[in-house]
Amino acid sequence: MKLKAAARHFSYRTVFHTVLILAFLLPFVFILTALVTLEGFNKCSSLDCLGRRLGPRLLGRGNDGSMRIVRDLYRVLDEINSEEVPVDLKVPDSFDEFIWDMKNNDYDLRSFAFRLKATMESMDRELRTSRLSEQLNKHYAAIAIPKGLHCLSLRLTDEYSSNALARKQLPPPELIPRLSDNSYFHFVLASDNILAASVVVTSTIRSSLKPGRIVFHVITDKKTYPAMHSWFALNPLSPAIVEVKGVHQFDWLTRENVPVFEAIETQHAARSRFHGNHLASTSVGDTPRVFAAKLQAGSPTYTSVLNHIRIYLPELFPGLNKVVFLDDDVVVQRDLSSLWGIDLAGKVNGAVETCRGGDAWVMSKRFRNYFNFSHPLIANNFDAAECAWAYGMNIFDLSAWRKTTIKDKYHHWVKENLNSDFTLWRLGTLPPGLIAFRGHVHPIDPSWHLLGLGYQEKTDIPSVQKAAVIHYNGQSKPWLDIGFKHLQPFWTRHVNYSNEFIRNCHIMEPQL
Ligand SMILES: *[C@@H]1O[C@H](CO)[C@@H](O)[C@H](O)[C@H]1NC(C)=O
Ligand SMILES: *[C@@H]1O[C@H](CO)[C@@H](O)[C@H](O)[C@H]1NC(C)=O
Repeated sequence: MKLKAAARHFSYRTVFHTVLILAFLLPFVFILTALVTLEGFNKCSSLDCLGRRLGPRLLGRGNDGSMRIVRDLYRVLDEINSEEVPVDLKVPDSFDEFIWDMKNNDYDLRSFAFRLKATMESMDRELRTSRLSEQLNKHYAAIAIPKGLHCLSLRLTDEYSSNALARKQLPPPELIPRLSDNSYFHFVLASDNILAASVVVTSTIRSSLKPGRIVFHVITDKKTYPAMHSWFALNPLSPAIVEVKGVHQFDWLTRENVPVFEAIETQHAARSRFHGNHLASTSVGDTPRVFAAKLQAGSPTYTSVLNHIRIYLPELFPGLNKVVFLDDDVVVQRDLSSLWGIDLAGKVNGAVETCRGGDAWVMSKRFRNYFNFSHPLIANNFDAAECAWAYGMNIFDLSAWRKTTIKDKYHHWVKENLNSDFTLWRLGTLPPGLIAFRGHVHPIDPSWHLLGLGYQEKTDIPSVQKAAVIHYNGQSKPWLDIGFKHLQPFWTRHVNYSNEFIRNCHIMEPQL
């Protein structure tokens, strides 16, 4: 992905410069030719007029004067190429202004070329700055919680305290044995986004051939717990059953058991420092990609404990043998029960590999894309060409997992990264996962899990329709304004816009 982005960047700039040069030079040749070959510039005041008069000459019927001018110009441009443009030099802002400037000042060829260079550099800087601010706006659009979702959370929390129905036990007491019954299909989801969680659970159950065999374990943070509970209590999805748990309700999740909390807190501290003063810690010299990475490293999405929760599945569900873990930015479109039938050949994690396959951009992820191979700890321990795989929809064999040291490895590397001041990798929870699960991954068929709907506008509709699970990984989540409009309907069709809470929070179906 990095290489691709660099290549695109390069060709974009090349084209941009070529266009600029053509736009500036051609009229200039007209003007210069006019000055050299016509008696007096005054007779012809518009470019059009000059062009009409000079057209025939430039098209080859004139003398070789114009060719000489072009050659001279090339030479001068080459000469001034290494000269610094003074910071305070006033340059034209637009093409029209440039022409006006040329007409009104009798520049020699050298000054002309110099002003041309200065103008182009200034425009290039402006372009970079505007791309940077576009990136910045997009980032804040991506991490800001939309008003509607915030409202939903508040109203449902309120409902939890005022309405006994919203507090009713989930699942009802007589169904509790099912929560650890391995003859059912157990799904786990961790989220603090009620609407997103609702879409994942609803779509899974709707797509299932045996919804009565589904048990959903929804894990959320302490703050969101009452609202999440209200939602699933008021919108039961029988015959499937849904359990809602807050991280505070798992006795096992203590600071001693989970040293990762420390890393999370450190990252949080770094984040508030960063967000409090973001203009100081990023500079215009950053390329948009480095800049975006810096911002993203500080996003709550990447620092929440819910993101690390999947590494504790064997401890959090001691009675379960196999679970499917879903991210909250997926939609399930097919019956998933045959995932339980896949022979994982003793491996722990059934996942889709992301280093080969249809989409050359989304599916080109190797270790080098996630880790800093300039760091000796990484370079000495891992292979840059090793294939990566995806989180989002994984089938985990918890019995096999319990016989491994996956969790310890995970902790070890999260701490190494913390001690190295986050220089081993920047983003999130997949990199330590890639390390911890090495040798424990069983590749499953890519049609199970289609990635990239949140950063790839070009995702083609037929493959979206065919995929068992679609994953809006990337910034353009379907519940945000910056979601890709043509991909949103696959998500919104699982939202009930006539639900009273959704209506009262003015969450509206996006208009195409
Ligand atoms: C990668 O590691 C090297 C060596 O420790 C370090 O100097 C560099 O800053 C790291 N790069 C990033 C992007 O963290
Ligand atoms: C959507 O919500 C309305 C109002 O709560 C309800 O009557 C309707 O049955 C729901 N539709 C679906 C498909 O769940």
